[in-house]
Amino acid sequence: LQNGLALTPPMGWLTWQRFRCITNCQKYPSECISEDLIKRTADIMLSEGYLDAGYNYVGIDDCWLEKTRDKRNRLVPDRERFPNGMKAIGDYLHNKGFKFALYQDYGNKTCMGYPGVLGYEAIDVQTFAEWDVDYIKLDGCYVDISKMDTGYPYFGKLMNESGRPMVYSCSWPAYQKKPDYDSIAEHCNLWRNWDDIQDSWSSLSSIMTWFAENQDTIAQYAGPGRWNDPDMLIIGNFGLSLDQAKVQMAIWSILAAPLFMSVDLATIRPEFKEILLNRDIIAIDQDSLGKQGLRVWNKSMTEIWSRELSDGSYAVAFVNRRDDGTPTVMKASFEVMNLPEQTYKVQDLYKEDEDRFFGPDGEFYTRVNPSGVKYFKFVPKISNDVEEKTYFTS
Ligand code: GLA
Repeated sequence: LQNGLALTPPMGWLTWQRFRCITNCQKYPSECISEDLIKRTADIMLSEGYLDAGYNYVGIDDCWLEKTRDKRNRLVPDRERFPNGMKAIGDYLHNKGFKFALYQDYGNKTCMGYPGVLGYEAIDVQTFAEWDVDYIKLDGCYVDISKMDTGYPYFGKLMNESGRPMVYSCSWPAYQKKPDYDSIAEHCNLWRNWDDIQDSWSSLSSIMTWFAENQDTIAQYAGPGRWNDPDMLIIGNFGLSLDQAKVQMAIWSILAAPLFMSVDLATIRPEFKEILLNRDIIAIDQDSLGKQGLRVWNKSMTEIWSRELSDGSYAVAFVNRRDDGTPTVMKASFEVMNLPEQTYKVQDLYKEDEDRFFGPDGEFYTRVNPSGVKYFKFVPKISNDVEEKTYFTS
């Protein structure tokens, strides 16, 4: 969608994957979807460097509403959990330098059964604009799927007419068998293509497979203002090892994916935080060319993913999906990595291997942990100084 927004993939934090629909604040005071959770998270994002690193949207997913609209048919946030209303949340976030993201659903109900926008589209867009919302995630539960092709553009038109710039995140293609990506990319800033991520390696793995197997259809639609969305980052929660968390961060950045953390930032372990705050990897995700990378090689449960960057460099990820519990040496040629033949300085983005040079007569080796990744930036070397040329070995 060319509305001047999301020129690089949006980044931030969203409640859903970690906090789901926890609404009992008596029982789960630090986990329920509430004003407290949002404020606490924004405070940490500001004081601990997440905002500085680029994570600037703070989002409330499902389960923020009262079950009924008010007398004038307006949406009402849960009175106990959001006692000061949504405008107060927007103000709080804006004062700290954040932007405000909010979830709704195109159907009669949200996926968790709260009132949806269908039949109230205009009044709801107006309400969001009054609350100073900057980003709407519009889900697709409880609606006739055939109506989405006109309904999502209609809602987007209302957003545009509201006069308030709002990023438009659509779940439209995730519900359809044969999505019309031309129309989706024209009307949405980002879109969920497929299944929800769950907090596990098997879920993460299945999403990677889906994005690889469908890359010929979807990758071409990504670019400034329009992004495929493989769903939230689950890094720092219960289900991923440290190596698996590194895989998600690497592959999401290759995919030019929106980076929405969904984790308790008050209790996240430092080694996971470090992955989320890896500036070199964030810079790849946010590369201004906006070209989505591809899985370029796949054999015996080992894969190579590669993305071209605006400065002529390439990001290349070596993923070992084997679960045999032992590191695997992966070997690659220029052809296999999809790289032009020239000499590169090769930087390990997780700083595990030493920086090296790699040139036309070499072969590239690296050793990758099981369900892990080695992630490199290949920077073309301008000078002809052959002395510097050394080769990578395992
Ligand atoms: C759907 C979406 C999720 C989340 C939930 C909320 O499943 O895909 O991302 O928003 O609804 O109910």
